[in-house]
Amino acid sequence: MRIQKTLENLRSRLQEHGQSHLLRFWEHLDEGQKQALLEQIQRLDLPKIDQWVADSMAEAPHASMRADFSPAPFYSARPSGTEWRSKYAEAVKLGRKTISAGKVAAFVVAGGQGTRLGLDGPKGDFPISPVKNRTLFQIFADAIRATCQEYQAVCPWYVMTSPLNYSRTVEVFRSSDYYGLDPGNVFIFQQGTLPNFSSQGRILLADKANIVCSPDGHGGSLKALHQSGSLKDMKKRGVEFLSYWQVDNPLINIFDPLFIGLHILDRAEMSSKAVRKAGPGEKVGNFCLIDGKITVIEYSDLPDKLAQKRQADGSLVFQLGSIGIHIINRTFVEKLNTRDFSLPLHRAVKAIPRIDEQGNLVESDGIKLESFVFDAIPMASRSMILETLRSEEFAPTKNTTGVDSVETTRRMMVARAAAWLESAGVAVPRKPDGSVDCLIEIAPSFALDKEDIKAKRDQIPRIRPGETVYLA
Ligand code: UD1
Repeated sequence: MRIQKTLENLRSRLQEHGQSHLLRFWEHLDEGQKQALLEQIQRLDLPKIDQWVADSMAEAPHASMRADFSPAPFYSARPSGTEWRSKYAEAVKLGRKTISAGKVAAFVVAGGQGTRLGLDGPKGDFPISPVKNRTLFQIFADAIRATCQEYQAVCPWYVMTSPLNYSRTVEVFRSSDYYGLDPGNVFIFQQGTLPNFSSQGRILLADKANIVCSPDGHGGSLKALHQSGSLKDMKKRGVEFLSYWQVDNPLINIFDPLFIGLHILDRAEMSSKAVRKAGPGEKVGNFCLIDGKITVIEYSDLPDKLAQKRQADGSLVFQLGSIGIHIINRTFVEKLNTRDFSLPLHRAVKAIPRIDEQGNLVESDGIKLESFVFDAIPMASRSMILETLRSEEFAPTKNTTGVDSVETTRRMMVARAAAWLESAGVAVPRKPDGSVDCLIEIAPSFALDKEDIKAKRDQIPRIRPGETVYLA
């Protein structure tokens, strides 16, 4: 009787919102399936979905339609002049103090699957390091452990997964004994999902009893931090800043005192690291200034004419690329969650397996919606950008070969290790073309940066051409 009443209510609500097809196969479902479908439909915020459909089903307008945006200002990777150098030195000091006080937490968005890398599981479990084949998760965990040791502080780690890879991620952490970290300081949680749509804005069914859903994008992290209880946990621990990064980048410097210090000195709420783009077509977000606010325009939304535009010295006008690295204030995320905030939804047309009107399984183009975390930057009262060197901090592993691949990432890991060693005066064999002629891997427990290498200069053996070296 109760289910009947609920059903009638839902039927009329779905009708009102143009989604009544969701109950098309109701008569064919068993009791368990009926209950499951009802719960899924009840969770849908239909008025909001109407809005998304109205906003997102049409092609998103290009940001360039606004005439008033310019390149964003930034802190240079290499400060020049005594005034800047002393500001950077002050920032490093402040950053170190903040990390020591346990006020910074690590936060990785790890909703991605390893499918494109040929891995059936979470991307974080992909073995990437050049000598020891350590996985992405393991590399991050080693760096976090080394930081805790160096600063004699607790550095908690929050790991956001998607509902698709949550169990596998937990399993990977458990079976690896949390990579030697205290499990009490590792918090693994799930992001939300959004329904998928036809091009007419109708919600798709995966089968007769289930709606097609997909992860809500890394922007979903800002809600998931609240809903999972992570923010509360951080508050309890006295964490004030989240160091945010993407799971595919093993070169990340998770606890960077300079970045943290500049963020605090600028009284910023959400800050970003950037690299100079490798070229106008590089697939990274572009830092712009719109209405005085730092804003990221995704590569696909920046018109080619603007992407190609150059300054008198030949450099790109929009030269700063986003690398998915941020410092975010805990209180900023809390503030967003005190109201029903939402980030803009970006649409992607993808082949989606689902059932057609006759209930047959088909795969055809549909619309996925995602929110992007960088869309929160303009919502911050203040924000800053720190330029960093690609060779030091950005080697995304997106493909098996070619650009941003396993190959390029491993090469960059070796190149950075070589550069650190050379900066400490260690001779590294190189081929005639300048590339490194050995395989080197530096464990975070040995060195977190080049300064650590300098301090351990005496422990480093002579490296011969073609040799494999692991410093731990
Ligand atoms: C992303 C950025 C781009 C940036 C580039 C740097 C977007 C839209 N674009 O591109 O601006 O220059 O990285 O490498 O993000 N993730 C989740 N849940 C999701 C979706 C993604 O946790 O629902 C995580 C992934 O695990 C990954 C990160 O977010 O760690 C980025 O996702 P990815 O799909 O790899 O973004 P890109 O398009 O490569």
